[in-house]
Amino acid sequence: MDPSLLDRLAAVPALLAAAAALPASSGASRVERLRRDWPADLVAAALTQADLRARAVAKFGDAAAAMYFTPDGLEQSSRPPVALHRATRFAAALPFASAGSVVDLCCGIGGDLLALAAAAGDRAVLGVDRDPTTARTAELNLAAAGLVADVQCADVADVALNGVAAAFIDPARRSSGRRTFDPAAYSPSLSFVSSLAAAVPLTAAKVAPGIPHEALPDGVEAEWVSWRGELKEAALWFGPFAAVARRATLLPSGASLTDADLPAGAVPGSGALVGEIGAALYEPDPAVIRSGLVAAMAAGLPGGRLLDPHIAYITADTVVPSVFGACFVVEDVLPYSVRRLKEALRARQVGTVEIKVRGLDIDPSALRKSLQPRGDASRTVLLARLDTGPIAIIAQRAVFA
Ligand SMILES: C[S@@+](CC[C@H](N)C(=O)[O-])C[C@H]1O[C@@H](n2cnc3c(N)ncnc32)[C@H](O)[C@@H]1O
Repeated sequence: MDPSLLDRLAAVPALLAAAAALPASSGASRVERLRRDWPADLVAAALTQADLRARAVAKFGDAAAAMYFTPDGLEQSSRPPVALHRATRFAAALPFASAGSVVDLCCGIGGDLLALAAAAGDRAVLGVDRDPTTARTAELNLAAAGLVADVQCADVADVALNGVAAAFIDPARRSSGRRTFDPAAYSPSLSFVSSLAAAVPLTAAKVAPGIPHEALPDGVEAEWVSWRGELKEAALWFGPFAAVARRATLLPSGASLTDADLPAGAVPGSGALVGEIGAALYEPDPAVIRSGLVAAMAAGLPGGRLLDPHIAYITADTVVPSVFGACFVVEDVLPYSVRRLKEALRARQVGTVEIKVRGLDIDPSALRKSLQPRGDASRTVLLARLDTGPIAIIAQRAVFA
């Protein structure tokens, strides 16, 4: 869709409302119904927008009904609570009375731009995107949210940075239509991000959560962020933003662990903090695992220790809740064999079994079929390869009052 069609569409809210009211399942009749009152190009654009808005509810909630999207823009946009978390860090780092604007380079449809504009108070905020339709979409979304920021359609390499107090950049991470985890293939590249950070010390960049640790630039804080237990993104915080080297932040709680929480001598994989399985087993949140801070989580639990230096399971002797992961009450530990596990589950009349696997090439659904679970009880089975061999832990999710 070109930006002029988007503007014509935004000028007919009645068409957008009518398109939203017709179920997508009504197919061709939707088009016929709307074509009675509006031209074909506007009807097609309105139906696309209605479908995108419906999809966007999962990310943007009720606000999606008044927003505009492109398919790529929706997919690549930051989830509002994640954007808010980041914008809050920007606001905290910028002294109230200091001068200078905040720029959102590669603003897309505005997921981050909206949060930055909301957090910026009176400070000028500028969003930049080189795609004209995407840039116009961001403008419409600012207006829909009642927020003020400028949006420029330009290549970020051409943006003047004088007078900029802080910069955020969220490079596109697709090449040839597929997601890429190669930081060199980001658009713009990670080297552009580093040059931006050299020009604007208060810079942060969003990157894919799968970014290899060896690709992280020196001196940055890398923050992995999860939302409701799902890893969403990593962000690189440069210059004065970088308080630590690695951070895991769990949203919506906002709980955060950093490398400063690592116990002295706990080098990942070193064997420090490893011990026998106790009464509790913890499965760390993926942000804790990706940030390499499992040992920091273990250190924060009474008697917390790793089951194995290479496996992201923590154990402890007392069952206490942790904000950093799921807690299970251990019932039994067996050397792993399908026959023994089947017998143990039969003895407990387990009909519903959740299977988690670490370090073993086992397909949980194929294993579930082989186990033929029968009964009213439910259990979690956690399989892990330890130095001593593969084990199966039979456990129940801990319930805390
Ligand atoms: C990952 S999306 C940004 C998503 C945004 N943070 C949000 O939450 O909605 C990346 C955007 O960067 C834009 N882009 C890629 N390379 C660019 C460049 N060199 N200059 C300006 N924009 C660029 C793309 O058009 C795309 O909209």
